[in-house]
Amino acid sequence: MITMNKTKIEKIIAIAKRRGFIFPTAEIYGGFSGFYDYGPLGCRMKNKIEKSWRDFFLDENVFEISTRTIMPEVVWEASGHLKSFVDPLTQCKSCKSMFRADNLIEEASGEFVEGLEPERLTELIKEKKIACPRCGGELSDVRVFNLMLKTFVGPVESSVANAYLRPETAQGMFTNFSSVAKAMRAKLPFGIAQVGISYRNEISPRQWIIRLREFNQMEIEMFVHPKRLNECERFAEVAKTKLRLLTHEQQKRGGDAVEITAEEAVAKGLLPNKWMAFFLAKEILWYHSLGIPLHALRHRHMLPEETPHYSKGNFDMEIKFDFGWKEVVGNAYRTDFDLQTHMKHSGKDLTLVDSAGEKIVPHVIEPSFGIERTFYGVLLYCFRESDKERDWSWFAFPPKIAPYTAAIFPLVNKDGLPEKAKDVYNQLKQCYDVYYDDSGSIGKRYARADEIGCVTTLTIDYQTLKDDTLTIRDRDTTQQIRVHIKDLKNILWKILEGEKLEKLGILIK
Ligand code: GAP
Repeated sequence: MITMNKTKIEKIIAIAKRRGFIFPTAEIYGGFSGFYDYGPLGCRMKNKIEKSWRDFFLDENVFEISTRTIMPEVVWEASGHLKSFVDPLTQCKSCKSMFRADNLIEEASGEFVEGLEPERLTELIKEKKIACPRCGGELSDVRVFNLMLKTFVGPVESSVANAYLRPETAQGMFTNFSSVAKAMRAKLPFGIAQVGISYRNEISPRQWIIRLREFNQMEIEMFVHPKRLNECERFAEVAKTKLRLLTHEQQKRGGDAVEITAEEAVAKGLLPNKWMAFFLAKEILWYHSLGIPLHALRHRHMLPEETPHYSKGNFDMEIKFDFGWKEVVGNAYRTDFDLQTHMKHSGKDLTLVDSAGEKIVPHVIEPSFGIERTFYGVLLYCFRESDKERDWSWFAFPPKIAPYTAAIFPLVNKDGLPEKAKDVYNQLKQCYDVYYDDSGSIGKRYARADEIGCVTTLTIDYQTLKDDTLTIRDRDTTQQIRVHIKDLKNILWKILEGEKLEKLGILIK
């Protein structure tokens, strides 16, 4: 059962706007459906989420690149997106509103219909007497609609080339596969990674930053020898990690996810190979480290009819949001589909020679993370409502992704305390994300800092002037310790590493 109500997410959205995490795009003109901007704090957090992802998922065998968001039509023809990257569309015959047909049927009937043919969706709309949710008008037959945004490159009509804004960052990694392999003298297995923007002309953007028309992805294409998909050197590190797997069987029966270790899931044939299991387990560990509880994470084996055209098996990592479970990471076993199709269309040789001297086309395991959905999950699960202790709400962000590590306050605005506090600020700002605040009462400043999830607050008082010590207050417990300014950098480092305040000094409150 979903326990979080809508009021909570409404509060979060309001704070996110008021405090500078997320703003509607072009808001002064009434907004732009499917687009949101990051404000100053959102930007800081997004950067930190990306950094944390890089620290956790990229190693010496995974090479990050940055490719363009616009690519020529031929790439999308080869990748299959021109033909197959489509959603079913229905339009109200009266008010002309457009809807994604499968979503409409699911909402009206509770039935899962993603991936069904347009003809079947049209039948279902008629059978279930589904009308336009806006005006009650009759709905049109369902037709497919390509989700890619088209553009034209070149100044004069005669030389204009059709191009598309990328719907996934992945194709830039496939088209650069050979160049990366040569430049880095890469040996299988190796990965190519990318963090960047993708675009999809979604029919009905919704749920705040869940379904957008422009969003950010963090993707890895892991290239593996086709006969060595079960040779994953670092698998032992995650073999015992518990996955919550929603198999085809469970989905048919309407059952719950089964808890199973990564190694058992491979042994029982529930996952196609060890590389897939490796990424699934790492995802659980990483999302948990971002503050999402384990019970709110699961992997769902996509049904054949909803599996993308390029994949031989997809396992979505889903988060239990306030509105239900939703995919946040798509994990696809893309086989050699992309390299083969690009070889065919470009005429270029994208094979590698293996240690036995044989020409091979590597297979690909792809974990593809959405940053905005991750952000939503973090905001939702780190949000703490006001209680007896505090009459303000706040965010318990893990220190590594919190927008600020410390806020620096002079107790009062006189007697040299602001100057001393600014001095501390200047000492810390090179190494840590810190800010200075001297406006309003100290209580108000605590509330403002907690509300944006600032990890600690440092208060400079009269004792500071005597012995160069200050108090550190912990956001989560409100406990305080007094420390010497010369030890601050070290202590903040330990706090970022997850050390509790009581281990770093004597509690004074
Ligand atoms: N390269 C594979 C790929 O793009 P996907 O499952 O279509 O796979 C991966 O997308 C992730 O990108 C999703 O799990 C989701 O987090 C994010 N994503 C996809 N469409 C999105 C949208 N319209 N708005 C926000 N995030 C989206």
